[in-house]
This record gives sequence, C-alpha cells and structure tokens, in this order.
Amino acid sequence: MMAASAISGKHALVTGGGSGVGRAIALALAEAGIEVTICGRRDAELAKVAGENDRIHALSADVTNEAAMTSLYAQAEALRGPFDIVVANAGMAGSTPAHRTSLADWQRTLDVNLTGAFLTVKPALAGMAARKAGRIVFVASTAGLKGYAYVAPYVAAKHGVVGLMRALAAETAKSGITVNAVCPGFVETDMLEESIQRIVEKTGRSAEQARTSLASTNPQGRFIQPQEVAAAVLWLCGDAAASITGQAISISGGETW
Ligand SMILES: NC(=O)c1ccc[n+]([C@@H]2O[C@H](COP(=O)([O-])OP(=O)(O)OC[C@H]3O[C@@H](n4cnc5c(N)ncnc54)[C@H](OP(=O)(O)O)[C@@H]3O)[C@@H](O)[C@H]2O)c1
Repeated sequence: MMAASAISGKHALVTGGGSGVGRAIALALAEAGIEVTICGRRDAELAKVAGENDRIHALSADVTNEAAMTSLYAQAEALRGPFDIVVANAGMAGSTPAHRTSLADWQRTLDVNLTGAFLTVKPALAGMAARKAGRIVFVASTAGLKGYAYVAPYVAAKHGVVGLMRALAAETAKSGITVNAVCPGFVETDMLEESIQRIVEKTGRSAEQARTSLASTNPQGRFIQPQEVAAAVLWLCGDAAASITGQAISISGGETW
C-alpha cells in the first residue's frame, strides 16, 4: 500500500458517498489527506458522512441527470479545485426474472448504473487530459464479470461499466490518466440487506438462510466488507498504481478471476 502522503492534498469525487461502499471510500480517501466531495440524492445521509471527517463535503446530485452533474462539478471545483480522482460508485439493483422485467425497470437500472457512471466521469476527462494526470475508478461488481440469475438489467449494466472502463483506459493511456474498475462480490451494505429481504419475500426462506446462500457464492464463505473495497480504491488512486489501467479487479474471495 502506498504512503498516504503521496496523494494528500488532492480533490476526489465519490458518487453515492452517503452510504455503504461509497461512504467507506470517502472515509479512506479523506483519511489519506484528500478533500472528498460526495454526492447522492439523500441530503441527510450525505450530511451524516460529511460529519464524520472534515475533509468530506456533501453536495446533492442525481447521477442520471447530466445538468445536475455539470452543476456539481462547477460548484465543487470552484471551491476545492479540479477533481484529481473520480470514483463512480452510485448504483442500484432490483431482482426479477428477465421475462417479467418491465422496460421501465430495465431502463432505470441502466440509467443509474451505466449512464450515471458515464455522466459521473465525462466532465472530468478533458481537464485530466490537459493536466496529464487523473485517476478514475468505477465500482462495478462481479456482476460485471459473470452472470447471475434474476438480475439481467444489473448484470448488463455492470458489464457495460466494465466495457466503458476499458474504452476510457484505451482512450486515456497516453494522458497520464488511469481508469480501472473494482468488482466486488456481495458486500455487507444496505443493498445487500435489500437483496436478502427480496429473497425472503419471494421464496419464503428465512433471512438467515438467504444470508448463508448469498455468502456461499464467495469461496471464502463470507461477505466482503466495504472497507476492503475502499482499500483497493485507495491503492488505485495512488502513485504506486500508475501502471495499472484498464483492469477490472475482482474483490470477491476468488468468486471470479
Ligand atoms: N452491496 C453489494 O453487495 C455490492 C456488490 C457489488 C457491487 N456493488 C456496487 O457498489 C456500489 C455501492 O453500493 P452499496 O452496496 O454501497 O449500496 P448502497 O448503500 O445502497 O449505496 C448506493 C448509493 O448510490 C447512491 N445512488 C443511487 N442512485 C443514485 C442516483 N440516481 N444518483 C446519485 N446517487 C445515487 C445512493 O444514494 P442516494 O440514495 O442518496 O441517491 C447510495 O448512497 C453500487 O454501484 C453497487 O452496484 C455493491
């Protein structure tokens, strides 16, 4: 792991920083001396995380809204300088058999997870290229690397995120920018709790049975902790990872490789 001081003083954007994985990433970056702007739609959740570290600053924005993301960039960069690091973490998941997935659910899942990731990083690209420096990290999923049943739009969106990452890595390789994705298996966050609740409602299994079944997808037989994802993101944002670009890094106890 690189020395924290090598990246201190920079400015990072973390979408979905008000909870779960995004909160852990925001805290890890802030503890490394980075000013971190977090965004999401729930002001109260964002304010709580901002209250945990003076270097974390909350701004509300919906990643599916291009004008809102442009305005977030304008406000945050006027206050703390251009983003050196952009972490596209915001996401959502639902579950339904593919043949019963409505077009609206399909579209919403792609809007948040894929188009939202594009709108999160697009405003950073020209400035990073001009400065010949930048770090972009997508929080994808093992669902970006393999298929799972009953989550077709989410799997399609996360595969799209991995493709977007690879395209941007190719496009920026000569510009001093690295672009990577982290691909966690099941992480212990609100999103996981919602998945467990859906299994309970749809199958009649107990929460404990649902939990055990999801944890068993990880060969280590456990859930990933948000801090484990954050540690990988912190490393990717540092100088020691300068030659790592275009990679989809599985954080899954060996579920995928
Ligand atoms: N938990 C897992 O098992 C797991 C596994 C692999 C990958 N991931 C990925 O990890 C990322 C974080 O998820 P999590 O597990 O930490 O779940 P989470 O606690 O539900 O976090 C999702 C975050 O995304 C934000 N968000 C959702 N829609 C948004 C929108 N339209 N605009 C702005 N922000 C939005 C939410 O904030 P608001 O509601 O305030 O907008 C929330 O803070 C997601 O991309 C997810 O796909 C999670």
